[in-house]
Parts: sequence; C-alpha cells; structure tokens
Amino acid sequence: MDFSKIAAMAAGHAEARAIQTAVRLGLFDALASEACDAVALARVIRCEPRATAILADALASLGLLEKNSARYSLSAGTARHLVAASPEYLGGMILFDAALWDEWGRLEDAIRTGRAVRDPDMFQSDPAATERFIRAMDSLVRARGDAGWTAAHLNLARTRSMVDLGGGPGTYLIEFLRKYPELRGELWDLPGALAIARRILKERAADVIDRIELRQFDYHRDPPPTRVDAVFLSNIIHSENERDNLRLMHTCYQTLNPGGFVAIKDHVMDDAMTTPASGAVFSLYLLLTTCGRDYSFTEIERWLAQAGFAAPELIPLPTPPFSSSIITAVRP
Ligand SMILES: C[S@@+](CC[C@H](N)C(=O)[O-])C[C@H]1O[C@@H](n2cnc3c(N)ncnc32)[C@H](O)[C@@H]1O
Repeated sequence: MDFSKIAAMAAGHAEARAIQTAVRLGLFDALASEACDAVALARVIRCEPRATAILADALASLGLLEKNSARYSLSAGTARHLVAASPEYLGGMILFDAALWDEWGRLEDAIRTGRAVRDPDMFQSDPAATERFIRAMDSLVRARGDAGWTAAHLNLARTRSMVDLGGGPGTYLIEFLRKYPELRGELWDLPGALAIARRILKERAADVIDRIELRQFDYHRDPPPTRVDAVFLSNIIHSENERDNLRLMHTCYQTLNPGGFVAIKDHVMDDAMTTPASGAVFSLYLLLTTCGRDYSFTEIERWLAQAGFAAPELIPLPTPPFSSSIITAVRP
C-alpha cells in the first residue's frame, strides 16, 4: 500500500467529522432549495461565516458540494442521501455515528480490556438514544436499498407467517408485506424499540400496518409465544457473543413450524475474518458497543446445525453497494 492511501486512511476521521457536523448543522438541508454563498449559508444554519466557508470548501473538495462563483450547491448524490426530506436519506445513520465519537476515542481501552466501552444495552436505556439507534438502522437500510433487494430475492411465496426478530424499525418487514399480500408479519423487539417502530409504521406503512403485530420479546429471556413459517434476523447475531448466538438459533428453531426456515442477514465473514473488509472494520464498532463481532459462515453454520437446522445456504448480496449476505436454513 502506498503512502497516500495510508495517510488518507489514518486521517479519515477528519472527513467523517466534516460530514457528521454538516448533517448536524442542517447544512445540506439549507442548500436543498437554492445555492448560496457562505454568508447566506451561515445565516441559515446560524453559524460564523468564515468558519462556515471553511467547512463548505472542505465539503466541496470532497465532492459533497459544488462551488461556482462563491455559491455552494448540492451534488446529485448529496441531494439524494444527505437531505432529510429524501426517502434515501442516510442522515439517521450519520447522526448515530456522530453520537459514538467518544466511544471511538476509547478504542484503545477496548482492545486492552476486550470489553465494550459503554453498557452494551443496545441503546435501550435512554429513549433519545433508542430513537437515534432505530432511526439509524432505518436510514441506512432505506438509503442503501437492502430491504428492497431482500424482498426481491428471498422467496416467501409459500410463507404465510413471519417473525422479524429484533426487527427494529420494521424496514424489512414492510417491504416483505408489500411484496407478498398473503403474508402476515410479527415484529419482536424490546419495548423502547417497539415504541419507535410503532411511530415509523404510522408515518409510512399505512398500506401494510394491519398485517403487522408488534410484540415485546427479549430473545435472551422469553420463550417464543407462537410459531411461524419463517424467522428473519437482520443485524442481530453481530451484537451477541458465540454462546448467546447458539441459544438464539435454538430460539429460532422453536419459533418455527416444521418445514419453516430462518433467514439471517449480516456481514458474513470468510474464515480468515478479513473479507468483506467493511465487516472486519465494523467488528471494531461492535467491540466498542456490544458483546459481539461479525462471524464467518463456518461459525454460523455450526450454530445452525447444533440447533437442528438443515440445508444451510449462503446468498451474498451484490457488492457494492451491499456488504452483507443472507444465510437460510430449514427446520426439518
Ligand atoms: C442492529 S438493530 C437491527 C434492526 C433491524 N433488524 C435491521 O436490520 O434494520 C438490532 C435490533 O435488535 C433489537 N434487540 C437487541 N437486543 C434484543 C433482545 N434481547 N431481544 C429482542 N430484540 C433485541 C434492538 O432493539 C434492535 O431493534
């Protein structure tokens, strides 16, 4: 690897922080309707003009803004992903990342101790943090298109009932129900997350809301209250340790009717644990904030087999933009 690449990576926090700060300040929203110069921009976002120009120039140098005759405007990608009114807004995820700045500053502690640097409570103990977390999942999945891709490629034609376990905002379940009118879905999650899901469903899923049941369920404690044809878990196993993931696979098995299947969507690592690279780096975030990490197909397949599942299959999503895979397995 050459000098420039190493140096750019090592200073990547500056670029990340510039984007996070611009989203927090509403800078992209301020430019959504018309181009303006730094003085006008500073007035709208209530900041100091010279400093605003420095930030806007940095964003223009990164290709996030265009600059013509001292006036700044949005680039096409920025208008699509960084303006709050866009359906593909990534800002929810960016604000969540911004809120974890202090945790990243303690990565050295996590590596030395092997423990998370915050209570690994899945952001459930403070309603504002829960909302930021759940909106981040929704924002990332909608901006990247994971839910649409998954609904198009996971065959649910013979599935009548499904649980989205740890379904969070319900982004996937909404797409599944839209594609399959015969399907009924249950979203099982912790109470704080369910409160946000309820709001999101009202905001934009009026067409399917009568086919979704929200159920309070802690997969560490509760026995499955019902049985269904399919259990979907997206971005769940990466927050749990190896022992709890094996237990979780048993819970999925008990939740399924015979002949039903589980679908696990996550980063699925190779045996060397270095590919995909985004998964290997994401494991650092998981180390900081959870008891988990990203796992390999070999590890996940082993838990599935130990829980009684058969016929595991790996479906990688196309890269880019995706970086995850889906593993399916059947309850005989
Ligand atoms: C990373 S989010 C994934 C949300 C959603 N599945 C997605 O992919 O967009 C993890 C979800 O698991 C939920 N969760 C965490 N611990 C849980 C538990 N013990 N029981 C049930 N849900 C849990 C969280 O509230 C959150 O909604």
